[in-house]
Amino acid sequence: MRERWDSVKIGVVGSGLVGSTFAYTAVLRRLAREIVLVDVNAEKAEGDAMDIRHAQAFARPVRVRSGSYDDLEGSDLVVLAAGAAQRPGESRLDLLRRNVEIFHQVVPAAARAAPEAILLVATNPVDVLTLAARRFSGFDARRVFGSGTLLDTARFRVRLGEVLQVDPRSIHAYIIGEHGDSELAVWSRATVAGIPVAEAARTGPPEARRLADPAFREALVEEVRRAAYEIIRRKGATYYAIAAALARVVEAVVHNEASVLALSVQAEGYRGAEGLCIGVPAVVDRSGVERVIVLPLDPAEQAGFQRSAEVLRQAAGEAGL
Ligand code: 2OP
Repeated sequence: MRERWDSVKIGVVGSGLVGSTFAYTAVLRRLAREIVLVDVNAEKAEGDAMDIRHAQAFARPVRVRSGSYDDLEGSDLVVLAAGAAQRPGESRLDLLRRNVEIFHQVVPAAARAAPEAILLVATNPVDVLTLAARRFSGFDARRVFGSGTLLDTARFRVRLGEVLQVDPRSIHAYIIGEHGDSELAVWSRATVAGIPVAEAARTGPPEARRLADPAFREALVEEVRRAAYEIIRRKGATYYAIAAALARVVEAVVHNEASVLALSVQAEGYRGAEGLCIGVPAVVDRSGVERVIVLPLDPAEQAGFQRSAEVLRQAAGEAGL
């Protein structure tokens, strides 16, 4: 990663809804000097590059272009957003197999072109594909990580913010585990202004009192788990919030922030997560994942985390990883 953030080069592999919306967000957020979009559909990538390029007149000069893998040369960071979307009637596992196959092609090509880059995986199922990206690139674990439960954590904080009537950025609370159905909320460590959420529920506005009810808390987490299904049912895909989440990760890297973000990483210190990539809070700086934050979990959370890790272990095995 370059020392000067205004000379940063970002590659985006996969100019679909997520990849292109991320590139657009990165331009508005002034995260790079140059962005290269690579896609099997070169015309689509060039169309996106042209469209986003024109937005720089309202942001700052950024060189946005489409290109081949060779054009990723010198990238500080490559976002991997390539992959198939689920077809009607197709199982998650079928999707997993197809996307592992795609990663077999794209990861070595990106790693060869940009051997110094950090790889940020966005394609689903993100935890297994982050593991695939690590294997297929041969890069050190700190330079290969996925968006993990960052988006789920955002959804959780937004809902908690609505209930507690505070800015979600003033809430410290995490969703960990698989980015998917087995993820869990770490209620035992959730705080607002340093006050445990359970206590804030007693003293906060009337709506916040509902948080004292375990059934309400479980329904809130279920809403977070179901959010993607609900959005996909209505409009076919999710891309705005994931693009903002990816931009936040890139910002932490580019500005060497040491920010704590819930990402899919090699979760050292978490029982049950050995050999996997799974969502846990991690310190992110210019080097990538500088270290993992080991949240002290209560027994029920620990059991939930291990169940989630088991789901991922099985999926990784079935994908031949
Ligand atoms: C999301 O959670 C589908 O993983 C995507 O929005």
